[in-house]
Amino acid sequence: MNTAHILLSLLPVIVITEATYKLWIPNTNFENASNWNEQRVPCSGDTAMFLRDKGVSVYVKSTHALTNLYLPLDGEFILPHGSGFLAASRDDPECNQGTSVNFNDADRHQWLDPTLWSSALSPEDLEIGRFLFSVDVENIPCHNDDVIFSPETSFRVQLKETESANQLRSISVLGKKFTNNEDFSQYLKSPSGKLQFSGLAQPQITNSRCQDSTGCLCGNDGMFRDICSARLQYTRNKCPEATCANPLQPIGHCCAICGVIISLEYSSTFNLETYRSRLLHAFLSLMKYSSIKLAISKVRSSSSIFSAVRLSEELIIQIVLIDGKEGSLAGSDALQLGKDILADIETHGETFGITKAEMQFATGGVTSPHQKPMSAGAISGIVIGTILGLSLIGVSYFLYRMDFCRLQDFQFFHYWRNGSRMRDTASTMDHRGFENPIFEPSEVSNQAADSGESDWKQITQPESGFQLSNPVFDSNFDV
Ligand SMILES: *[C@@H]1O[C@H](CO)[C@@H](O)[C@H](O)[C@H]1NC(C)=O
Repeated sequence: MNTAHILLSLLPVIVITEATYKLWIPNTNFENASNWNEQRVPCSGDTAMFLRDKGVSVYVKSTHALTNLYLPLDGEFILPHGSGFLAASRDDPECNQGTSVNFNDADRHQWLDPTLWSSALSPEDLEIGRFLFSVDVENIPCHNDDVIFSPETSFRVQLKETESANQLRSISVLGKKFTNNEDFSQYLKSPSGKLQFSGLAQPQITNSRCQDSTGCLCGNDGMFRDICSARLQYTRNKCPEATCANPLQPIGHCCAICGVIISLEYSSTFNLETYRSRLLHAFLSLMKYSSIKLAISKVRSSSSIFSAVRLSEELIIQIVLIDGKEGSLAGSDALQLGKDILADIETHGETFGITKAEMQFATGGVTSPHQKPMSAGAISGIVIGTILGLSLIGVSYFLYRMDFCRLQDFQFFHYWRNGSRMRDTASTMDHRGFENPIFEPSEVSNQAADSGESDWKQITQPESGFQLSNPVFDSNFDV
């Protein structure tokens, strides 16, 4: 990314946001050992068997000598130049006792299974394995996503009917990109299309991008149950047991987690991609946080997380942090990172258009039955956060909170390690105090972006240990 690109992405005027790419992981390639019941590719002494009644499309990269080959009634082999099959001479020393090797049933891979997709911000990221982590419903293609089936692979995907339609922006199959419904429907009727996509449902190709720089909803909520039953099909709908006492339930995730959920309220100047970049570059790139998985997205929050007064549904930004730790340490790294992110929001939140942040966490260990979950701090934290508006109160609250944390650190860990959850609210300080119409948020960003460094520096808070890492000037951003 270059500076100009980032400058552009900061301007809140008609932003074309980055797309997310979803890559289908399983393939039906002949050379993939896991597609065969013996976990090996058949060799010259073997008989390669394809199930008679299972239609399948199979990509064959190289030439294979086989003793016998049984084909399905309906199927295709994709043979690029230089690949094919040979009748084997039986005395191959590397394949002495020939057996019958069966190709696995390719119908078991469902579109709705979130474990079968990788997502990334660009096709290049997909290639080098720089994947995004997301909650389950967002791990299958969302409404504005580009879907990719790798070129030079064959695949078969089960598309079941669901309550809500599967929408996507575009779909690429074997290197050909479809951006409208008519073309793709046509393709689905072709012999290859029929073998690659089975089932009655058909994804709707909309070619529509997310136009909202604060982020777009994934749009898969209506499929939550179907996605989770696909996700948990091999464990009889059971989630793996979480090792913390009060695991958290992120919105859009099938199973409860040990770790952290941060919920953000935001203003119109918030830019999801900019903030995601900040989290990835300023925090996740640190060695100590390298094992943490971070998901960030806009979600519809039906429960009123922020206040008991607000009843209607609202859109919030949800950040989910999960670390690789187990047992009593589960979630401890995530909690540390969560605290760092909250501290960052206290100082720079307003720059990013974050108006309120709340953290919930659950870490490893077992709560003893006598220990009551401590919620007093949580409640007062939320109340203070909600009525904040004047910078004076903001600063004193901030200082008070920091002291509180320092004094309570020992106790804090003592209690909270044990799997209870604490709610912690950080509210950004409002430097203006009221909304001045001349000083609209959009103009602020414009000015700041135009006049460069000087304007941004004023926002730096010297008492904090942080520098304002303005993404425009953050050297990390050129990674
Ligand atoms: C082989 O196939 C399995 C399941 O279809 C898939 O998960 C895996 O990524 C494939 N491996 C390669 C090297 O293509």
